[in-house]
Amino acid sequence: MVQSSEKPQIAAGSAAPVERNNVVQLLGNPGSHAITVKGLSKRFQTKAGLVTALSDLNLAVDSGQFLSVVGPSGCGKSTLLKIVAGLVPPSSGTVEVGGKAVVKPYTDVGIVFQRDLLLESRTAIENILLQIEMRGLPVKQYVDKAKDLLEKVGLADFSGKYPRELSGGMRQRVSICRALIHDPPLLLMDEPFGALDALTRDEIALDLAWLCERSRKTVMFITHSISEAVFLSDRVIVMTARPAAIVKDMIVDIARPRSIEQRDSAEFEQHLHQIRELLFHKRNS
Ligand SMILES: Nc1ncnc2c1ncn2[C@@H]1O[C@H](COP(=O)(O)OP(=O)(O)OP(=O)(O)O)[C@@H](O)[C@H]1O
Ligand SMILES: [Mg+2]
Repeated sequence: MVQSSEKPQIAAGSAAPVERNNVVQLLGNPGSHAITVKGLSKRFQTKAGLVTALSDLNLAVDSGQFLSVVGPSGCGKSTLLKIVAGLVPPSSGTVEVGGKAVVKPYTDVGIVFQRDLLLESRTAIENILLQIEMRGLPVKQYVDKAKDLLEKVGLADFSGKYPRELSGGMRQRVSICRALIHDPPLLLMDEPFGALDALTRDEIALDLAWLCERSRKTVMFITHSISEAVFLSDRVIVMTARPAAIVKDMIVDIARPRSIEQRDSAEFEQHLHQIRELLFHKRNS
């Protein structure tokens, strides 16, 4: 496990609040957006009828910002992430990443899902380098970087191990390394720690914070853990039940590097409280 040692900057904050459909949406700093979502809707045709997962969603994420998305199960979080990744087409509206319209999957991104999706026939380092192979990049030039990443997440001695020889936490660390090896400016993570025990979650959260603080990546991170969201993020958005709308857009102005112990602090608890109240209130209203 790695420890934070430098103090990174909190990414640029958000600006003008905009009222729409009774929700407040903060639209960030114009011109510096890594992700811009405009009027995004997604409907699925199912046997039971039309399911509207997203309806007229607007969101702008600044470059270098760590954004967490929380909200009730089934509200449309994964759908949003898949559309941003270009894996699923929107029904209407637009998504831009780095100023370019997203119309299909693209390569300048690292994606981590809840299941690590490692290939069992490949060792840890071979799984990481798969990312390079798939992109047609020179694999040999990335071997040292893969080793370096493994070392940073405490797996220096495991590079030659097969996934079956690794714990769930180790496997997910390898998949995070795989998402980072090509140094993408954008990281999309959908409940990456969902299958892990609480202690391992904390450890990997520290690893992820450390890695992201150094490389200033833009991150969209979906989680059911409010505490994890506040701990990792520069900004947290809270979604309503389906179709998802943003009910809270919160800047987490807690200094970095953050330690696990800080989670007991009053300022941390304050942030948690704001989110909890919204989620709980919405569920009961
Ligand atoms: N391919 C699909 N076909 C039909 N309906 C879908 C499809 N994908 C998602 N949905 C529906 O869209 C809604 C949003 O799903 P989504 O997976 O985005 O939710 P989520 O917020 O990620 O939920 P969870 O927190 O449980 O992962 C749900 O009602 C889901 O059933
Ligand atoms: Mg989901």
